[in-house]
Amino acid sequence: KSIPVICIDGPTASGKGTLAAKLAAELGYHFLDSGVLYRLSAHAASQAGLSLDDGAAVAGVTRKLSVSFKNDTILLDGQDLSAAIRSESAGMAASKVSAHPEVREALLELQHSFRRLPGLVADGRDMGSTIFPDAELKVFLTASAEHRAERRHKQMVAKGISTTLESIEQDLLARDARDQSRKASPLHPADDALLLDNSFLSIKKSVQQVLVWWQDKR
Ligand code: C5P
Repeated sequence: KSIPVICIDGPTASGKGTLAAKLAAELGYHFLDSGVLYRLSAHAASQAGLSLDDGAAVAGVTRKLSVSFKNDTILLDGQDLSAAIRSESAGMAASKVSAHPEVREALLELQHSFRRLPGLVADGRDMGSTIFPDAELKVFLTASAEHRAERRHKQMVAKGISTTLESIEQDLLARDARDQSRKASPLHPADDALLLDNSFLSIKKSVQQVLVWWQDKR
């Protein structure tokens, strides 16, 4: 039997990262936050002075990424980038590089390498549709743009970053539009994904729902 994978895909700020991390902790599984890889790719490309529009060049540095994860710390070539890659601008840069098929290809093997026993919870945009098509459970997590913007706004205020709800909602919608309209692995639910709208669900309830689905599959 193949190594179990649960895929949690969805748009920006849908809460998929939080949900996936909690599921992984609950099940004792490994955890892949694939967005981090695209963020690191964009970071490395900028550091190398590359244009983010140059797919072949960005793919070149992406293939050579030397990433390591230690608990919540993300190291690139030994440098701690955990905070830097969480910014909205890093997210937007990631969205740009992720539209290049060569860059997506460059990250394929690295993503597959996270699939280890006893199992994996992977979150992103195309975990179920492209990276782990044989996953036993695929969840597509959504929430209204208003709810997503509100949550992101709260997080940023808590971090002491000054911004408005309107500008956050605009950024979210711009990123959704780019992620949905690109040719390479656009953001869309896999045919066999289960949809979960968490606009009015607590994190706890969302985790419970996915665990019920997981038990049904096993
Ligand atoms: O999830 P996160 O906000 O960290 O992702 C940043 C960007 O990386 C997304 O807007 C998307 O363009 C890209 N991404 C992707 N495929 C994934 C994960 C992220 O294209 N599996």
